[in-house]
Amino acid sequence: MASFIIELLERECMSNKKYTFVANWKMYFTTHQALSFAQEHQQSFVDLAKNAGHEIILCPSSLELVSIVELFKNTVIHVGSQDCSDYQQGAYTGQVSAVSLNQIGASHAIIGHSERRLYNGETDISIAKKVALLLDNHITPIVCIGEDAVTYQAGATISALEQQLALIIEATNKKYAHKSIYIAYEPVWAIGTGKIPSTRELSEIFNWLNLLRSKFKDISWRFMYGGSVSENTISSFTEIEPLDGFLVGGASLNFQAFKKIVSYH
Ligand code: PGA
Repeated sequence: MASFIIELLERECMSNKKYTFVANWKMYFTTHQALSFAQEHQQSFVDLAKNAGHEIILCPSSLELVSIVELFKNTVIHVGSQDCSDYQQGAYTGQVSAVSLNQIGASHAIIGHSERRLYNGETDISIAKKVALLLDNHITPIVCIGEDAVTYQAGATISALEQQLALIIEATNKKYAHKSIYIAYEPVWAIGTGKIPSTRELSEIFNWLNLLRSKFKDISWRFMYGGSVSENTISSFTEIEPLDGFLVGGASLNFQAFKKIVSYH
């Protein structure tokens, strides 16, 4: 009887938990498609965040950022970018600065995504610089970390993550007390593949990440999972206690699928 009551209380606590859902639209939409998608579902996104009580952050590509920030101005929906420059200002053709992101009202920025590490040569050094620039400009970084298939098969996931986090911790420790940093664990082999890690593997990784909370108490950490999160896989994450949210790629392009994911918890 006592264990039944404890289980009920635990479920009640879980259902009160406020999760974060980041919609990473990548470069799937054209500008016209992104704008019409956001306009068509504007009220539904707002209702979804209010009804579910969770945080929703939409991340369109840079060209649509200003319009979509305007569309959701004074609502509960946050709008973030998919990257930012690792320089403050100057001769950096094609880049967008953290200062500008702040000026247009972006609240968050995804950085270090594995696709940017792969196709745009992002390194742990540039990502740590971006974290500092974003925090200096009052934007919450959503830092992606994750191992590739070879590292996963070699059982070296934690040491790879440790290496990806080391410079970020060094750059933020002490200086950014009371700021928020989101860490999204995204195994590269799980992105867009339909595969996800087992509950045992996720528990090990998120319990390990959770140690940052006690080690670096001044920073407000949020730990998220990304990689093939969909309406079919969302139920697989319920037992991962330190998990605070999800980064959703492909499934965030369909409002009904995204709604099912957000409404699950
Ligand atoms: P996916 O992408 O949900 O399509 O697997 C996640 C991501 O890359 O952020």
